[in-house]
Amino acid sequence: MTLTMPSDDRTYSPINDLEKVILDEATIQARLKELGAEINAAYQGRELAVIAIINGAVIFVADMIRELNLALQLDCIRVSSYRNSTAPVQTPEIIDRIRLDIEGMDVLLIDDILDTGNTLSKVSKVLQSMNPASLKTCVLLDKQVRRSVDCEADFVGFKIPDEFVVGYGLDFAGRYRQIPCIGVLKAEHQIS
Ligand code: IMP
Ligand code: MG
Repeated sequence: MTLTMPSDDRTYSPINDLEKVILDEATIQARLKELGAEINAAYQGRELAVIAIINGAVIFVADMIRELNLALQLDCIRVSSYRNSTAPVQTPEIIDRIRLDIEGMDVLLIDDILDTGNTLSKVSKVLQSMNPASLKTCVLLDKQVRRSVDCEADFVGFKIPDEFVVGYGLDFAGRYRQIPCIGVLKAEHQIS
């Protein structure tokens, strides 16, 4: 695929490449407060290891942990997934492991979106093998109809229909992560 560079026009704004917004900034932030309350209640008085799958979960985890009034430590795991297209690779590979020793800790694994389930189930297995005291998962978005492996998240922000979305950390070919809302690209911007 050939990527054209965004115009050097000073008025360039990635949000203009969206055909529609499905979750606006205020809706996302309001749901994060509710999710934060759920997680605070679930782990009251315990210390949490929050593991974020990067790059996609960076924006979500940054906002999410600021809703948590728990003792917590943050680490990231890097997984390969899309390669300049909207189709996922079949087997996600772990390309950068965590440094935190999670043995005996309560672990909350965070990703931006649960799609086929391959990524979350693969990373869950890897973390489980490190003997945490407990392991739960949290995703901002859940595209349930796309599931190809048996995998559900314990905390879910929003269930969404089967459309490829960008923004709030989610990318297309590495772009659009900085958009503060979540939306669907115009067809001319998702040619692969
Ligand atoms: P899964 O392994 O198919 O569940 O896919 C999960 C990963 O694919 C997520 O970590 C996302 O990075 C990526 N992904 C899935 N759906 C979308 C989407 O609609 N937009 C952007 N990235 C997506
Ligand atoms: Mg991802």
